[in-house]
Amino acid sequence: MTHSGPAYDPDQYWENRGGPFYREYTESSGYEQYRRAQGQFFSELVARLRPRRMLDFGCGTGKLFPLWVDVPEVHAYDRAQSQIDVAREEAMRVRPDNPYRVLHYVSGERAEVPYDDDHFDLIVAAEVLLHVVPSDIGPLLDELRRICRGHLAVVTAAPFTNPAAHCFDHDYAALCAGRFDLADDHVVHHQRYLVGGKVPSSGKVRLDEKSRQSKDFVSSLSDSKVRLPNAIVTP
Ligand SMILES: C[S@@+](CC[C@H](N)C(=O)[O-])C[C@H]1O[C@@H](n2cnc3c(N)ncnc32)[C@H](O)[C@@H]1O
Repeated sequence: MTHSGPAYDPDQYWENRGGPFYREYTESSGYEQYRRAQGQFFSELVARLRPRRMLDFGCGTGKLFPLWVDVPEVHAYDRAQSQIDVAREEAMRVRPDNPYRVLHYVSGERAEVPYDDDHFDLIVAAEVLLHVVPSDIGPLLDELRRICRGHLAVVTAAPFTNPAAHCFDHDYAALCAGRFDLADDHVVHHQRYLVGGKVPSSGKVRLDEKSRQSKDFVSSLSDSKVRLPNAIVTP
């Protein structure tokens, strides 16, 4: 993918745009419809799956933290210190008696995720994967699969690419093949919601078929009039 302007350094990008600035964006009236839709979706998902231990991956400022109060053990992780500083305050606010374990960790390998194998019943990645550069997305999904023993739930952009805003289209159905079996894949307000169950090591992979289904799905949404409103392009 080619675009002009300075090279995208994901870590620097989120250090500069995280914290109070990002929180203000997710609390703005322009963002309200996405917050509401995600709240409804994740509340229902948690009630249905009843995870005992979950991870809010790329938790940002903890926008979704109030939704996890009934989960016995909550972990949250982000590479940006600016986000984590606000997330820690939010974690203490929503559940001081059983604090979320909010981890800031950065390694040279961007796809590395610092948790044990088969650790989480549920991993949530809300508005994270669309910002992961194409060369990192496969290895990162390998890591998420490694640490997952249950389900991965993703909120991402519906077909939309804006390298200037560091948003990348990934072929999620193809990427999930052999890693997560997709049980849900739908769009609300031009955001795509996916839920997949971890594929056990011996799981059969039908890459060609999954890739074809994904392309059909994406093209069915690729109405040139459908464009994400500016409000959804994270700062
Ligand atoms: C658009 S924000 C979303 C934050 C939060 N999930 C929400 O819904 O408000 C994207 C976040 O993902 C984090 N992120 C991006 N790539 C990551 C990675 N490889 N590991 C951990 N965090 C990452 C960024 O630092 C940033 O805080």
